[in-house]
This record gives sequence, C-alpha cells and structure tokens, in this order.
Amino acid sequence: MKKIAVLGSGIVGQVLADGFIKHGFEVMRGSREPVKLADWKRGAGPRAQTGTFPEAARYGELVVLAVKGTAAESAVDLCGAAALAGKTIIDATNPIADKPPVNGVLSFFTGPNESLMERLQKKVPAACFVKAFSCVGNAFMVNPDFSGTKPTMFICGNDANAKRDVVEILHLFGWDVEDMGSIEAARAIEPLCMLWCIPGLRENRWFHAFKLLRK
Ligand SMILES: NC(=O)c1ccc[n+]([C@@H]2O[C@H](COP(=O)([O-])OP(=O)(O)OC[C@H]3O[C@@H](n4cnc5c(N)ncnc54)[C@H](OP(=O)(O)O)[C@@H]3O)[C@@H](O)[C@H]2O)c1
Repeated sequence: MKKIAVLGSGIVGQVLADGFIKHGFEVMRGSREPVKLADWKRGAGPRAQTGTFPEAARYGELVVLAVKGTAAESAVDLCGAAALAGKTIIDATNPIADKPPVNGVLSFFTGPNESLMERLQKKVPAACFVKAFSCVGNAFMVNPDFSGTKPTMFICGNDANAKRDVVEILHLFGWDVEDMGSIEAARAIEPLCMLWCIPGLRENRWFHAFKLLRK
C-alpha cells in the first residue's frame, strides 16, 4: 500500500498528505478545484499529485477523508461508490454544525445515538471506514512531540483488515492506538473533538492530546 488519496484541501488534508509523503508514500490530494492545490504540489515534491475527488479516490489504495463535516456525505457522493469499494477509508471528519460554539462547546448536526461515520458507511457499504485523527488538532496529527509520551488515538470501524492498515499508519505517525471496536463507537469518538476544542475555544489553549492510562 503506497498510494494514498487525501480528500481535502484544508489544513488537515495538508498535514496528513505531508505526513504520508514524509513516510515514503505517494499521495494524490483531492479537491473540487484541484487548481487551488498547485502551490502545495510544487512544494511537496515528486511523490505529490492533485486531482478531483473522484480522480483521487480512484488513485488511492487507501483513502483519507478530510473534508468539512457538513460536506462529507456529498464528497463521498462525488467520489462515487465504485471508486471507494473495498478500500480502507480513514475518516478524520467531525460532524460540526454551522453554528457558533456555546461557552466553547461546539454543536454537532448528528444526535447522540448516531455518528457521521455510520452515515458514510451506509452510503458506501463496500468501503471500510475507520475513524482516526478526528480527536486531535492538526498540529499533532503526525509524530506529535509530548516529551516522550505517546498520546492515544481512538479508532473504530467494522473491518479488521482495514483497522490493521490504520494501526500500522498510526504507529508510523507516532501514536499509541486504542481500538474501540465496531463502527457504533464513532458515536463516542466523534464527540471527543468537542472536548478537545473546549480549552482552545475558551482559553486559546490548543496544545494537548488525549492519553488513555492503563493498569
Ligand atoms: N482542523 C483540525 O485541526 C481538525 C482536527 C481533527 C479533525 N478535523 C476534521 O477534519 C475535517 C477537515 O478539516 P479542515 O480544517 O482541514 O478543513 P475544512 O475547512 O473543514 O474542509 C475543507 C474541505 O471540505 C471540502 N468541502 C467544503 N464544502 C464542500 C462541499 N459542499 N462539497 C464537497 N466538499 C466540500 C473542501 O472541498 P474543496 O477542496 O473542493 O474546497 C475542502 O476539501 C473536518 O471534518 C474537521 O472537523 C479537523
């Protein structure tokens, strides 16, 4: 697995695409308007390409979904189910609603007994969605430095082989991994984004990550 599609022209797409290139992968970043990724492509070197969402989805042996939460379902539609079928899809999205936070607490457009990833999985049952990277700020996604302590990335998804791929990538990217099981666990992992953002939105403190202590 060497060819990675990163769907997203935002900061998460950039950080993860750069992380994959740093670790020796080939990357195509996808956008509705690939031309806006031209500067990134020039700077990222010969293993970087750009394309539309469907072009990138077809290219990737593994696909990373890093688009605005409210647009995730339409981005998946734009890729087309056939391009995603049978592939591991790392889902970094969060279902953040287009509403201002209340005392630092973001609003989600999903309810407590559902998740965005379950909606996406229903759209493309043949794809293997794995939640990852959703519960930390982009500054810490790739090889985070917490003075020797590896933070914990919480993942979930229904396909064991896909989760093995993602665990391998997360270890390469410097993470301790906690597999929370099947896709319904996304109902618990996605809201960690709300918790992670509170210190930032209330007090401009953004330099933290979660760690699960085990005994
Ligand atoms: N920012 C963080 O530190 C962080 C941390 C963890 C998780 N996340 C999650 O990661 C995801 C990406 O975040 P981000 O901050 O990098 O960027 P973002 O601004 O949330 O998303 C940008 C991407 O969304 C796509 N998009 C927007 N509207 C669209 C539409 N109507 N149809 C199709 N695609 C559309 C854009 O496509 P075009 O390229 O075509 O414009 C672009 O690729 C979000 O779900 C966010 O919650 C963010």
